[in-house]
Amino acid sequence: MYICVCKGVTDTAIREAVHQGADRMRDLKTCLGVSEQCGICACHAKEVLEQALMQRSLSQYHPT
Ligand code: FES
Repeated sequence: MYICVCKGVTDTAIREAVHQGADRMRDLKTCLGVSEQCGICACHAKEVLEQALMQRSLSQYHPT
């Protein structure tokens, strides 16, 4: 699903960026361009970021 229409960034791309080490909105902005233009996506992008961070920390305790 598209999160940032201006930059064509999907939730999958955000999760992948978190998997690669992104921790903050600033990181998503730098590596994907999220919320660089109109900024409407910022709130939803932050939700996806927080979910992905939680999944990342859980997988560190329960590696598959
Ligand atoms: S929708 Fe992300 S900057 Fe416009």
